[in-house]
Amino acid sequence: MQDYSPFLNLFSKHLEDYSRALNKAEPKELYQPGAYILSLGGKRVRPLLALIAADLLEQNPQKALPAALAVELFHNFSLIHDDILDNAPKRRNKATVHIKWSNNIAILSGDILLVKAIQALQQGNHKLEQAQLDVFLRTAAKVCEGQQMDMNFETQKKVTVEDYIHMITLKTAVLLACSLQMGAIAAKANKSVQQNLYAFGKHLGIAFQLMDDYLDVYALKNQAFGKQIGGDILSNKKTFLLLRAFELADKKGKQRLNAALKMNDQPKEKIKIVKSIYSELKIDQLCITEADKHTQIALKSLQNIKADNAKKEVLKNFALQLLSRTK
Ligand code: IPE
Ligand code: IPE
Ligand code: MG
Ligand code: MG
Ligand code: MG
Repeated sequence: MQDYSPFLNLFSKHLEDYSRALNKAEPKELYQPGAYILSLGGKRVRPLLALIAADLLEQNPQKALPAALAVELFHNFSLIHDDILDNAPKRRNKATVHIKWSNNIAILSGDILLVKAIQALQQGNHKLEQAQLDVFLRTAAKVCEGQQMDMNFETQKKVTVEDYIHMITLKTAVLLACSLQMGAIAAKANKSVQQNLYAFGKHLGIAFQLMDDYLDVYALKNQAFGKQIGGDILSNKKTFLLLRAFELADKKGKQRLNAALKMNDQPKEKIKIVKSIYSELKIDQLCITEADKHTQIALKSLQNIKADNAKKEVLKNFALQLLSRTK
């Protein structure tokens, strides 16, 4: 098991100082929810990717700290709003911002984290920052597009697995890709290295969201996942699992699935029926196989990068660990 604690410690220290100031800012209703969600932890996948990329290319993760902060602030902004969209009660084992406070508070405290994310990128070297800001803002727009598609798909009849992969590329994968590219820019890497890291992150991100959808159904109740189990089923999310189930079910199975999707007044029963159809069709395994496929594609892009092999192993292990995550 690879040890990422030096990167995590570097980032945590930086974030703690930042959150302390955020928590004191006024009006407190605007800033405290941001400090709250940041204080709940999370895996810090995106900042770690930015720091590891900078370390891979220039042995100086420190240089990627502004980028790391920006992507984590942006991620937390997207989570606050995502939890309103998804009607989610729990995040990182605690009440979501809109439940703990209100929708209005969640909207504005999310907005300010987005602004703070952009500001985090305006601290020093102008030329590097401009390049980082460029990829960051393009990515931010894509995340919003993906989130809108995710919402549209809830009620859209015809959604293909290809549509789904496109949607998760936008809502999730490009932010992992962007984190790596921003780390590479901080290390003054050339365009080809940046592009290979971006491709690595994109496929890693697709695998990551596939596993998130898997865990939404199959995470064990040991609290590690920290979110309501079965939430995607309850909101009729067109996940890989549901789309493949519709593809593979026979006529009767399709009818059972369609009937289950309408069972909004019996949430426990709804989850149970959909899960039993998934298990009849071995959908869980198909999801893991698909995630593995994208992890392997990601690793191919990593091979194209000329860098210290031991350091490339760090990223490879990071990818493999994400694939087998339980939270
Ligand atoms: C959750 O992201 C949202 C997705 C894109 C699946 P993470 O699983 O990285 O959430 P935290 O930051 O670790 O809580
Ligand atoms: C999240 O997708 C994508 C973004 C936050 C942009 P999900 O809705 O699956 O994320 P979780 O499961 O709530 O963390
Ligand atoms: Mg969502
Ligand atoms: Mg959600
Ligand atoms: Mg999810």
